[in-house]
Amino acid sequence: MAEPIFSLAPMQAISTLAFWRVMEKRGGPDVYITEYFRVHVHSTPERKILASLNESDFAKPILAQMIGTEPEYLVRTAQQIQQMTDCAGIDINLGCPSPRVCGRAAGGALLKSADLIREIVESLRPVVAGTLTLKTRVGFESEAEFESLLDLFSGLPIDGLAIHGRTVREKYQSEVHTREIAMAVEQLDIPVHANGSIVTVPTARSMYQKTRAAGLMIGRGAIRNPWLFDQIRQSFHNEEIYHPTLADHLRYVEDLYEEIASTSWQYEEVKHVQRMKKFMNYIASGIGGGEFSAEIRRVQSANQFWEVCHRHLGGSEPLPEEPTADGKLFCGFKELQDQTGYGPELNRVQCPT
Ligand SMILES: Cc1cc2nc3c(=O)[nH]c(=O)nc-3n(C[C@H](O)[C@H](O)[C@H](O)COP(=O)(O)O)c2cc1C
Repeated sequence: MAEPIFSLAPMQAISTLAFWRVMEKRGGPDVYITEYFRVHVHSTPERKILASLNESDFAKPILAQMIGTEPEYLVRTAQQIQQMTDCAGIDINLGCPSPRVCGRAAGGALLKSADLIREIVESLRPVVAGTLTLKTRVGFESEAEFESLLDLFSGLPIDGLAIHGRTVREKYQSEVHTREIAMAVEQLDIPVHANGSIVTVPTARSMYQKTRAAGLMIGRGAIRNPWLFDQIRQSFHNEEIYHPTLADHLRYVEDLYEEIASTSWQYEEVKHVQRMKKFMNYIASGIGGGEFSAEIRRVQSANQFWEVCHRHLGGSEPLPEEPTADGKLFCGFKELQDQTGYGPELNRVQCPT
């Protein structure tokens, strides 16, 4: 049976070498994408993102993502990144909804300017040696814009397109528009990666069934459950699905803590705990009825951090199959798996057509 390839979504302050190494130990995706390099007149490629590219010790392709608006500076930065690293290609961010980014007409705001997108891609194509890909949303204000975006994408010299199935306005808080992703799969002759609210095996299978995308891109769901890529592969191969326990989850947090410390320029306890909190928002979802998340948010020291983690993690209980659908961190995944015949529990997942 055909099977999609898997990528880990680019995520600021998350998609770093430390996180990738921890993911790799648990199977990992087939492709990684860096957090974005900010590109403007005075920019030089950020050292810490270059380090993630250069110091990776696993043999999987990594794409370097850039965010910016001026073709000239994007070209300059793409050339620099390629000279300084072995990246497999360059990806352009057309989806970031942050007001600071959109206020500078970059990220998701680029979707309002088809001519500029064309100019950027055409300027980059001759200088990008590997793959040149775009990561988009289904529109800025409304998914009704997607048809004309598709016309634009179909005429561009790109090698792939990742689609986060929400509009820029919807940020992360809505259902995922799978119909538009399916249209892109149907109409474009390049690989399309479907992205948005894949958090479990059933949601991955639903996304695949609804879109038939060549790839599935996963972000927050993989922070919460780093075994997710392997679980989805097991489902596609009709193999028994590995169910992590809360003891596995504790080892994951320990591993992440150590990797982040080992890849930091210098270990400072309070800063380190703050960095871990970014991950813990997602990791704690679905565990301890909200108490775990609330307690982790209040910790200030490593001792307090581990006291809370040891109280909520560890033991042979299984990691809950789903995160909490709270609208802020995780939403839209219940709707994604509706009407497909894939049940909410991993155990009920089988391999139909
Ligand atoms: C903390 C965080 C940081 C993100 N940073 C980026 C980024 O640097 N570049 C990008 O294209 N998308 C970024 N995204 C969007 C994700 O790549 C992805 O499209 C989105 O989270 C939906 O996928 P998911 O539901 O699997 O998380 C970010 C998302 C989150 C939650």
